[in-house]
Amino acid sequence: MLPASSPVPAAQPVLDAKESAKQVMFDQMWTRLRADPLLEELNVQAYGADYPYDVQFFSSCTRTTLDLTLAGLQVTPSSVLIDLGCGMGGPGQWIARESGAYLVGIDLSQVAVEAAAAAATSYLQPGQFDYRCATITATGHPDSSADGLMSIDALPMAADRAAALKEVRRILRPGARAVFTCAEWHGDAPLPHPRMATKWAPLIAEAGLLLVDQFIDNGKQARQLRKYELWLEHQTELEQRFGPTGRSLIEEARMGPGLLTPNYRALLLTVQRPDIDQ
Ligand SMILES: C[S@@+](CC[C@H](N)C(=O)[O-])C[C@H]1O[C@@H](n2cnc3c(N)ncnc32)[C@H](O)[C@@H]1O
Repeated sequence: MLPASSPVPAAQPVLDAKESAKQVMFDQMWTRLRADPLLEELNVQAYGADYPYDVQFFSSCTRTTLDLTLAGLQVTPSSVLIDLGCGMGGPGQWIARESGAYLVGIDLSQVAVEAAAAAATSYLQPGQFDYRCATITATGHPDSSADGLMSIDALPMAADRAAALKEVRRILRPGARAVFTCAEWHGDAPLPHPRMATKWAPLIAEAGLLLVDQFIDNGKQARQLRKYELWLEHQTELEQRFGPTGRSLIEEARMGPGLLTPNYRALLLTVQRPDIDQ
């Protein structure tokens, strides 16, 4: 039987020092974001026609991201769908509403899961969702119990990406799919950050998953650069209204363009747990 919807997540995850610091940072970010529409307004300008209206998010999620995720997952009303690193929950809620799947949202930030659970009450059917505070590498979800898993701009944030993919494989039932966004660095230009050295296909294979589809998001650079320009144009408001979060967004807007060169490849990957374990 599916668990009953609960807007108050139960147990707190056990976190190491780095994860605790990250939790504080994301709690601050989501506290500001839930209360202030400025970043959402800037996103609308940056994304243009591909802006996913009616979806609460803070990521590179677009309407195209949602359509591709829905098509890749192949979930149905009898499916249990996990949204890993769900944030305020919009992308997972959109997929759950379109497909009828039962949604389990998981995030490190207590503030995010509370906001997501509150939004879900008016977006989804009663009893169609559950939100939990847990981590990407220790979801607390039972083995082989998820019929689909999505993660928009979150899975690569796990300190140990190989462990994150192994956790995905553990909780997917055989034959089920996961769709997640990530990035790779291609060409000879020096890596802008050691984490950009990750090549996802070998990690996916090592975790015992099959790579079934790869979408290269060629529009991401332009959208992201436009977003950074807008953040810099609104620097004073962002710093005043968003405090430490605003300052870190301005830092990202200054550093980010160095990453978004032609060597940067934004990806949306669809993977599958094999029907028969190999
Ligand atoms: C960029 S936001 C994306 C949120 C959401 N997927 C969206 O599209 O709006 C990344 C989210 O991942 C969560 N996160 C980061 N590291 C995490 C971890 N190790 N375990 C669980 N959640 C994590 C953050 O709290 C944040 O809500």
